[in-house]
Amino acid sequence: MAKPKVLSTRPLFPAARAILDQNFQVDYWTPPERISRAELLQRVADKDGLVCLLTEKVDDELLNTAPSLRIAATVSVGYDNIDVPACTRHRVVATNTPGVLDDTTADFAWTLLMAIARRLLEGDAWIRSGTWPGWDLDQLVGADVWGKTLGVLGFGRIGRGVARRAQGFHMRIIYSDAVRVPADVERELGAQFVDRDALFREADFISIHVPLMPETRHLISTENLNKMKPTAFLINTSRGPVVDEAALADALENKKIAGAALDVFENEPKVNPALVPRKDVILTPHIASASVETRTKMAVMAANNLVAFFEGRRPPNALNADALGLK
Ligand code: GLV
Repeated sequence: MAKPKVLSTRPLFPAARAILDQNFQVDYWTPPERISRAELLQRVADKDGLVCLLTEKVDDELLNTAPSLRIAATVSVGYDNIDVPACTRHRVVATNTPGVLDDTTADFAWTLLMAIARRLLEGDAWIRSGTWPGWDLDQLVGADVWGKTLGVLGFGRIGRGVARRAQGFHMRIIYSDAVRVPADVERELGAQFVDRDALFREADFISIHVPLMPETRHLISTENLNKMKPTAFLINTSRGPVVDEAALADALENKKIAGAALDVFENEPKVNPALVPRKDVILTPHIASASVETRTKMAVMAANNLVAFFEGRRPPNALNADALGLK
């Protein structure tokens, strides 16, 4: 029997490629530049499966173009690139890669937190400029992290990982989420549930870990930034549109908050130009999960979802399994 045809919009990593190559006829997009929408639509048209990235939209247009498509696997935990109800209407299974990137992403949120608090990049740039005159008492004095209050906005797996790390820094940990976690989890993490308003007002560091949904778009608005302490820092490793970048730039300019470290942006790869020259901002290119180990695991997970599906099993990370009545 002919192997199912799969499009992979990236060459992926060898471990994932080995799985795909063994099971499918795979068309890999290999050029260094990302696949264009036109190319994606053309290549997916005769495919049974798709492995895609968070930069590729799986929507009605794509699903209409690919009548034989049965499964779309995004190599990301966030799946705002996938119109899941549209997939369900087209009887296409949608999958993501939860779980494997939590600790790596939590590590990176902490990387940003420490770097912005202690002015790491300013120090690095100063040395490289060749103008550092040597030690002095008041050079690049930053903010202490230990003993401060960490506010975790969104207390899923990644938010909890960030909280767990904060215990080593003897921080007070507060969180807000639509759902309160069980008391034993709060106890284990030493985390206190507060309403969103209190979190904005009390935290010295706010780390964002909510998914992008209509309710979280521009959650970081002028109104909420105004509630923050002028000494507080904002860290975002979730999704860019959760932060209103223009409002953030204004808040920084008007010293409403002390700084921000952003790994994700409203209109990637564009960044609001008002943020770019600022020394009180760190900008990184959406790399919070980018360790070799974790990105490999994500790609392998996507490949295994396809294998499960075409072997007649329920893909372990199906987002619409119930809606499709998968056993
Ligand atoms: C990355 O942003 C992801 O959602 O995995």
